[in-house]
Amino acid sequence: MIILGIETSCDETAAAVLTNNDNRITILSNVVASSASLQSKYGGIIPEQAAREQIKSIIPVIEEVLSQAFFKKRLPRPAIGGARNDGVGVDAVAVTYGPGLIGSLLVGVETAKTLARIWNKPLIPVNHLLGHFYANWITGYTPDVYAQVSPKSHIGSENEVPKFPCIGLLVSGGHTDLVLFTDHGKYEYLGGTRDDAAGECFDKCARLLGLPYPGGPEISRLASQGDALQVELPRPMIDSNDFDFSFSGLKTAVANLLHTSEVSPGSSEVKCNLAASIEQAIVDVLVKKCVQAVKQYQVKQLMIAGGVASNQKLVRNLQFTIYNLQLKTKLHVPPPELCTDNA
Ligand code: KG4
Ligand code: ZN
Repeated sequence: MIILGIETSCDETAAAVLTNNDNRITILSNVVASSASLQSKYGGIIPEQAAREQIKSIIPVIEEVLSQAFFKKRLPRPAIGGARNDGVGVDAVAVTYGPGLIGSLLVGVETAKTLARIWNKPLIPVNHLLGHFYANWITGYTPDVYAQVSPKSHIGSENEVPKFPCIGLLVSGGHTDLVLFTDHGKYEYLGGTRDDAAGECFDKCARLLGLPYPGGPEISRLASQGDALQVELPRPMIDSNDFDFSFSGLKTAVANLLHTSEVSPGSSEVKCNLAASIEQAIVDVLVKKCVQAVKQYQVKQLMIAGGVASNQKLVRNLQFTIYNLQLKTKLHVPPPELCTDNA
């Protein structure tokens, strides 16, 4: 099947043309337009503005993604306007229906509904969070269709996809969830954040440090030059003996440190040390809970997904801990550009 995927849950306008092959997904083309640099000026996302940007980008993004996919297949691309509204070549339209920013979601959903209607093709509603997990089923390059993404993670072979049962950690800007998957469509929620998501904590701490949005990659960049041991920060709920998380206290601890103290973020060394400590605190909690879930459910497969899954410290620490504890667990990580929002 050839599926046109559309995702507009936040500040990315994304479309992709995908095909399935056995238990794997292959990308024929993948286009993401982001209004993050615009949102960055305001220190975060203004939902109304993100939705307006979605409207500007949605049709050009879909036209581009269809052109790229069908050019590679040396076929005329499906028309989405004018006299020819045929949709020939596309078997179904899939779209993120939520969770996400309602104004942004509406743009993608209404566009997908319209295309499915005029092309007379099925419309597949996709849960945003499951969509993130399924980035782990996308495999890399095939000789004839050249996807413009990195090969699948360096962990495991490129064509390896998760097997069931599998523990999934979703770490995005809005969610931090641990899930046990026993099959496609069969999953159990084990726990999640009680307040801020991991990505949100990165973003808010970055803002306290005067760094631009999105904060995760910024903190990570500074952290690579800092020493986490120089600044002590709490690891909320790390020993809670359940699969819940809490990150708002970490953010408050960073705010208190900056407001009260000796730690002035003026100096770049201090900033880097603080960034390293924030990143380490978040990673420590995520790693601990993943390992706990893998052990408790005696699962040999672990996948991570969502924007924070592109954090290399998280990936390395998970790998290291799995190896150190001899858990014999396979870790699946999508390529970084498929961790953040995409179609
Ligand atoms: O999954 P995503 O693109 O959007 C949501 O569905 O929320 O995740 C965005 C989040 C942001 O909070 C961003 O700061 C974080 O992912 N993020 C990172 C990194 N890249 C993106 N956090 C830590 N390290 C990164 N390298
Ligand atoms: Zn997302």
